[in-house]
Amino acid sequence: MDVAVEGKEALEVDADLIAFGVVERSEKDALLPSYLKEADVATGGFLTAAWDRKEIKGKKGEVTLHPLPGGRRRIALVGLSKAADFSLESVRLAIGYLTRQIRGKGVRSLSVHLPSFTLGKLLPEEAAKAILDGHALAAYEFTRYKSERSEPEKRRLVIALSKEHVRVKDRVAGPLAREGRILDTVLWTRDIGNLPADTATPQFLAEQALQLGKDLKLKVTVFDEKKLKEMGCGGLLAVGGGSVHPPRMVIIEYQGSGGRNAKTVAVVGKGITFDSGGISIKPSPGMSEMKFDKSGSVAVLGILRAAAELKLRVNVVGVMALAENLPGGAAYRPGDVVKSYSGKTIEILNTDAEGRVVLSDALAYAVAKFNPDQVVDLATLTGACVVALGNDIAGLLSNDDRVANGLLAASEHTGERIWRLPLTSVHRDMVKGEVGDVRNSTELPMAGTLTAGAFLSEFVNGKPWAHLDIAGTAWVAKAPQYCPSYTPPGYTAFGVRLLLNYLENVS
Ligand code: BES
Ligand code: MN
Ligand code: ZN
Repeated sequence: MDVAVEGKEALEVDADLIAFGVVERSEKDALLPSYLKEADVATGGFLTAAWDRKEIKGKKGEVTLHPLPGGRRRIALVGLSKAADFSLESVRLAIGYLTRQIRGKGVRSLSVHLPSFTLGKLLPEEAAKAILDGHALAAYEFTRYKSERSEPEKRRLVIALSKEHVRVKDRVAGPLAREGRILDTVLWTRDIGNLPADTATPQFLAEQALQLGKDLKLKVTVFDEKKLKEMGCGGLLAVGGGSVHPPRMVIIEYQGSGGRNAKTVAVVGKGITFDSGGISIKPSPGMSEMKFDKSGSVAVLGILRAAAELKLRVNVVGVMALAENLPGGAAYRPGDVVKSYSGKTIEILNTDAEGRVVLSDALAYAVAKFNPDQVVDLATLTGACVVALGNDIAGLLSNDDRVANGLLAASEHTGERIWRLPLTSVHRDMVKGEVGDVRNSTELPMAGTLTAGAFLSEFVNGKPWAHLDIAGTAWVAKAPQYCPSYTPPGYTAFGVRLLLNYLENVS
């Protein structure tokens, strides 16, 4: 990430674009905010004139650009919404809108006036990180398959502290550089998550993990179909049976810097490289989006990479449950009974409820083999979660208040929104099997996210555990989708920043 902090006024930084935040004004705000005085003079009074015309309102999504004499440099005024609702997320959103506006406009360097983005309410280091987040996440583009791709726009971001924050330069610089490394990993993760299923096969994703292991000296183990059979991972084998790309389970082990007493967290991801539904095949419209059904496992890659790069104290075990769900002569069928790693039998009622089937092996293996202190899984598990919570909020189900509250707290910091949903014995009863121990679908059009969570809870052997249903948040298909301004189309890498923040605080 090309980012720097300077103890200068925003206008003193040599940048193509100089951005200031403007909070939503009320009728009483007759005068241009004082921190815009110099910019106003530089524009020959344009800002005052625009202010008087009420062209600058400070509303969410508003971006006013104005050139400076000389032809190269411009001023941007960025709406921040109402002061009362102002938060780190307002900063990310505002910078996201700005970043969208300036795409393809030759802005090679951007200077951001920090004080106007803290409103004296946010810590300067937190606001600076939010500016970097909003900018880096919004600027991302997946161009790999464009033959006539232009060079990706390289842009330098400068956080201008101005006189208000010049004394805290050291406090801002460290966290900002660290955030830059996290974002590098998030964007790397997005590049993998955006790959289509012809390229991102289970074996391909396993190789990404092996490469990561080499680069960062992590222990990586790949179980192929032969080994999975020996182990008794009947879930992965059943779901992957219909594809010529056989299933894999991948384990990535990060030994934290916290020593003997450090906690161990297992992070488990659903990695269906393509979900056609299998024999219970999905309707065609929108089926292409099911290349993103690997999102949970791709997030695991990103989380492990960043955990190792940042040398977190906590131990992290990443588990990727990888398979392709296709119909075919060797595909599993409705009515089949599958024996999962835990020994429990799963009655298959719908081959499209495959995520929970592969996760049954991965969760049970993670718990049995590593005896982690807690388990968190990420999965694009249910369409019902998209119906309930939309594209902006992921579902959280947990058997442990500490883990759940820790994730909710992390979510406040990163802006990756989650909402806790209930896990009850009613829903566990609903997934009891007729001929098997459990069934993978209730075949009832109700509480789909809750019964899926209840199903998973059968495979964690009572360990503190949380499940994130990221079906609505893992990718942005097309506008209009109700997702943050800083989330461009494609895989979002939802959960990577959230889990990192969470893991930093596990003790
Ligand atoms: N991968 C899908 C869930 C999904 C659907 C994610 C739409 C994102 C958008 C999952 O494997 C699935 O098909 N779930 C079924 C479960 C049902 C058959 C019990 C669903 O939600 O319809
Ligand atoms: Mn499915
Ligand atoms: Zn699926």
